[in-house]
Amino acid sequence: MVRPNMALADIGTDHAYLPIWLAKQGLVSRAIAADIRPGPLQSAQQNIRRYRVEELVSTRLSNGLEEIFSVEADDIVIAGMGGEMMIQIIENALWLRQKEKRLILQPMTSIPELREYLAKRGFAVLREQAVVEDGHAYSVMQLQYAPEKIIMDSLYPYIGKLDAATEDNREYMRKVITQLEKKAGGLSISGKLEEAAALKNTAEKIRIKMEKER
Ligand SMILES: C[S@@+](CC[C@H](N)C(=O)[O-])C[C@H]1O[C@@H](n2cnc3c(N)ncnc32)[C@H](O)[C@@H]1O
Repeated sequence: MVRPNMALADIGTDHAYLPIWLAKQGLVSRAIAADIRPGPLQSAQQNIRRYRVEELVSTRLSNGLEEIFSVEADDIVIAGMGGEMMIQIIENALWLRQKEKRLILQPMTSIPELREYLAKRGFAVLREQAVVEDGHAYSVMQLQYAPEKIIMDSLYPYIGKLDAATEDNREYMRKVITQLEKKAGGLSISGKLEEAAALKNTAEKIRIKMEKER
């Protein structure tokens, strides 16, 4: 999802494996591996030296994008963090609202809230793809500030732009269906029948979409 030969900022980089790998593959012109904690940055620095990419990858202590300038990054990755934290980081970096930039997000939690926030702020999903790793399904999305490209339907908060074309995408959809049905069950028990019915309906729509697109 990172465009070739662009400047990358990896926010919450931890070990810096992603910028190191991209640098090794010759896929980035330069990269900043940023983290809010000094500990991960130390291991990032060690890894950068170990894989001999010091010329291309530097580290930066930064809360979100606070210490990153717009000219330093074309593509901004935020992966492996909660959706609420991503919202905070994106809300505080107004320079992301430029057509040339791309945001690449792989959220762990609060994903419908994140998708709704992004749409409200004018970030359109250009591509989305799920990946299954160790039995867990994750979704990765590439976004551009492009309010005119936003298309929101009732399934969008739950599956974004995923289609059912790959087994990994279908696995992610099955996970979402399970979560929706579980939540609907809880709502039914507490007497919130209308809300429960709406979630069950959404789960059913995802199931139909999967059958159609298989
Ligand atoms: C679970 S790791 C994810 C590592 C890597 N991005 C990945 O996907 O494998 C989350 C990292 O985000 C960092 N982090 C949390 N909040 C942050 C913030 N506001 N700004 C920058 N980094 C943050 C943490 O210190 C931690 O190293």
